[in-house]
This record gives sequence, C-alpha cells and structure tokens, in this order.
Amino acid sequence: MMVQMSQRKPLFAANWKMHKTSAEATSFVRELLSGPMPDSSDYLIAASFTLLSGLRQVIGESPILLAAQNMFFEEQGAFTGEISPLQLKDIGVTHVIIGHSERRHIFGESDELLNKKLLACQNYGLIPVFCLGETSEERESGKAAETIKNQLSLGINGLNAATVENMIVAYEPVWAIGTGKTASPEQVEEMHHLLRQALPDTTRLLYGGSVKPDNSEILLTLPSVDGFLVGGAALDPATFRQIFQ
Ligand code: 13P
Repeated sequence: MMVQMSQRKPLFAANWKMHKTSAEATSFVRELLSGPMPDSSDYLIAASFTLLSGLRQVIGESPILLAAQNMFFEEQGAFTGEISPLQLKDIGVTHVIIGHSERRHIFGESDELLNKKLLACQNYGLIPVFCLGETSEERESGKAAETIKNQLSLGINGLNAATVENMIVAYEPVWAIGTGKTASPEQVEEMHHLLRQALPDTTRLLYGGSVKPDNSEILLTLPSVDGFLVGGAALDPATFRQIFQ
C-alpha cells in the first residue's frame, strides 16, 4: 500500500560541512530555537565532530536532532583520526550522514566502505542519512538512473528491514551541490521515483543540492520529496527557517 507524503514526516536537515566554531554553532541554535519549530516536521543539524558535544548541551530537549557528518565502521582500534559509532553514541548523537558526495569524491569512499558504515549504524542504533547522486558526466552520458540505483543497492546490501525503514536517504546530484544549479522538479521526481521503487514506503527521501528559500517551496510540493538536506543556505538560521517555514 502506498503511503502518502503526509504520512512521512517532513525532515529539514542542515549540513554545516566544515563550517562554524563552537560559539557560532551555539548562537545558530539559540537563534533557531527563539522562533517557532512546528512539530509537524523534524529538524536535524549535521555538524563537525568538534561541535557535537557542545551542541548536545545547547540542543537539550528541543526538537532538533543531532548528526555527525561521517564515521568509521569499527568500534575502536588503531585508526588514527577516525571516529567510531560508539564514540558518537557516547555523546548523544543519534544520526550520521553516510556517503555524502564530498566523502565519495574528495576522499574516495567506495560503495563497499559505505555499506560497512551503514551496517555499523545498524549495529549501534544510529540512524543513517545515506546520500547518493550522480555526477554531471554520469548524467550527460545517460547513466544517472543506473548510478543511483547501484549506489542504493550496494549501500543497503545486508541491512535488515527495520534499518531501511527508519533510515533517511538523500538524493544529492553532485552537479547541484554548492553550484547554485538546482535539479528541476522533473529531474527530482524522476530520480526519487526510482529510489522510492527500491525503498519501503516509510523511508524518508530528501533532496539536496543548492536548496534555497526561493526554490524550496516548489520542490516541497513534489509528492516524492519528504524534506531537504541543505548546505550553504543552512549556515544562517534565518535562511534555514525560511526554507522550512
Ligand atoms: P548546498 O546546499 O550548499 O548545495 O549543499 C548541499 C549538500 O551537499 C548538503 O549535504
């Protein structure tokens, strides 16, 4: 049975990437919480590792969910510079971005590695925000659909049904990230439709890539869009608010 979009609670996620000091992070949250946060939606901030403990305190019992932007799949060991699922759980992080295009393309993270990270999320009860999307070359050569279908199936391979039902998937075409070129509503619908066919009805499907207040309204009317993963426009609390209001 198809679930209507209204049955999947919208989620507005800020991915701060490698931005903000702890003072800036605190003032963002205070400013955001000083305005209404309707409980008809969920809100999430994905921040640098150095900010997470401090944010946990400032966020307190507010409706904001806290995510890391990456993690390693082992619990502990000789992995200098990495952060484990256990360490994230320990400081009250509940969500983690896995497979962001900057991890895939700048840091060379493979589908196989991302699958291990998703399995680690499952083992430690962290909710993944699993990102996927095609490059401009893949789109221009007619391989966009095949690319995202492969990324999804290789990523979720071996996950149990409950994990997939609860996870969040973000379609972020690489050519739209930080470029000001948002995917058209038709492109988003087409790609989300493909992903939706391979996912349970409960899995929330976000769009990301140059989401701004002036294009968010139309994208949010698409039945396949359950919310956004926002980069640049989520660095300022007032702009982020304009997107979810
Ligand atoms: P921009 O919104 O800056 O294009 O970034 C999108 C993104 O990568 C979110 O994860």
